Amino acid sequence: MAYILLFVIIFIFSLLFIHRSTRRRRYHLPPGSYGLPFVGETLQLISAYKSDNPEPFIDQRVNRYGPIFTTHLFGKPTVFSTDPETNRFILMNEGKLFDCSYPGSISNLLGKHSLLLMKGSLHKRMHSLTMSFANSSIIKDHLLLDIDRLIRLNFDSWSDRVLLMEEAKKITFELTVKQLMSFDPGEWTETLRKEYVLVIEGFFTLPLPLLSATYRKAITARTKVAEALTLIVRQRRKDSVMGETKKDMLGSLLASGDQFSDEQIVDFMLALLVAGYETTSTIMTLAVKFLTENPLALAQLKEEHDQIRANKSCEDEPLEWTDYKSMAFTQCIVNETLRIANIIGGIFRVTMQDINIKGYTIPKGWQVFASFRAVHLNSDYFKDARTFNPWRWQKNSEVSSPANVYMPFGGGPRLCPGYELARVVLSVFLHRFVTRYSWSAEEDKLVFFPTTRTQKRYPIILKRRLESKST
Ligand code: HEM
Repeated sequence: MAYILLFVIIFIFSLLFIHRSTRRRRYHLPPGSYGLPFVGETLQLISAYKSDNPEPFIDQRVNRYGPIFTTHLFGKPTVFSTDPETNRFILMNEGKLFDCSYPGSISNLLGKHSLLLMKGSLHKRMHSLTMSFANSSIIKDHLLLDIDRLIRLNFDSWSDRVLLMEEAKKITFELTVKQLMSFDPGEWTETLRKEYVLVIEGFFTLPLPLLSATYRKAITARTKVAEALTLIVRQRRKDSVMGETKKDMLGSLLASGDQFSDEQIVDFMLALLVAGYETTSTIMTLAVKFLTENPLALAQLKEEHDQIRANKSCEDEPLEWTDYKSMAFTQCIVNETLRIANIIGGIFRVTMQDINIKGYTIPKGWQVFASFRAVHLNSDYFKDARTFNPWRWQKNSEVSSPANVYMPFGGGPRLCPGYELARVVLSVFLHRFVTRYSWSAEEDKLVFFPTTRTQKRYPIILKRRLESKST
């Protein structure tokens, strides 16, 4: 029996070996290694990203094979690109040569009508609708005031010690709910957020309800979220028949004349809440972490924001668009945080046909990964790339980087529609945070898998800086 088993194993391994070498000869594939049969190099990737220094996974392969290499990740042969030109080519040819691709767990939980999974002309239409809702004039005229108010409202409820990552998540969730459907924070939003947390946990499990309790809970939570959102959509349809409309994303969808079904609108809103939630809140937390570790940068940032506050009559006087536009050093902090520790380290795509790129051929149906992180942390493009240096973003800086290598918000047809909104939210948050508090942080470690986060959710001890001049 043992001999038969051994024979079968050797036979399968030989077949795999022959298949891989034939494929290599037929296509001029980038060099690389497929790792173990079936699991490929997935376990090495996961263990690197579970540590606070995942870089060796990419560094070792780039040193051995060059900037584009072949590997095998999450069950599929994958071409991994750390080359900025190739990354841009992949992004710009979305829908023509490459299709977006998400693991089954994520696509099942998002729902087929989410913007992230939509394709073709409907995707184009919905993407531009989303962009138009989060553009600078809407933010300036409608959203900025709410962003500023809701951030202050959250701070008012904080105790002297908070887990910053948790609080940041609460803030970004409440802001997105407000922008999507005009709801102020309350019990309803908090209940919805708790269900959301369960949905997001399901993203990182196998999509097998029988095997994974986390996935089962995520499906149940998704159903509850969808039910809650459906009730809102139905009510808003009734209101609009009575002539009551609201200037929010849901209002734009209902008024767009596209006759979207309830299911389409719910999937769309559900995905928008996911897309802005972990991303913005992680950058908020990590900006504070990097500032805590860089007192010079913090001092310069405080100076910028104290200056803005000095021109206001009281602490509660809202920020205006001109204030936001004057936050030059804040933009350097945001850029640098996004460069060093973006939660979206890159994007997966699938080839729609055989593709020739940089002298290699990638077969149809292969997975490609355009790694933004590898470019952002490469010293060929950013001097001392692994050091936090917000001054590199100042005009005429000696350490500035070449154009077209920095892409924390992606690019091409799937460019993040929330990029401007995220910048404003982060800037307002930093303004209110550094003018209101001084703080110390407890020891905490950054890890990168399954998402970028700090292990203890970044506990900080806060001390009030300014006493309110009014209210
Ligand atoms: C720091 C914050 C953020 C970062 C770093 C970020 C990053 C990204 C990136 C890299 C993509 C491209 C994904 C791809 O090409 O497949 C993307 C897509 C997307 N983002 Fe963001 N994002 C942020 C905030 C937001 C916010 C606040 C919103 C909500 C308004 C949002 C909504 C979306 C949506 C809906 C997509 C999918 C676009 C599509 O597939 O057409 N993001 N984001």
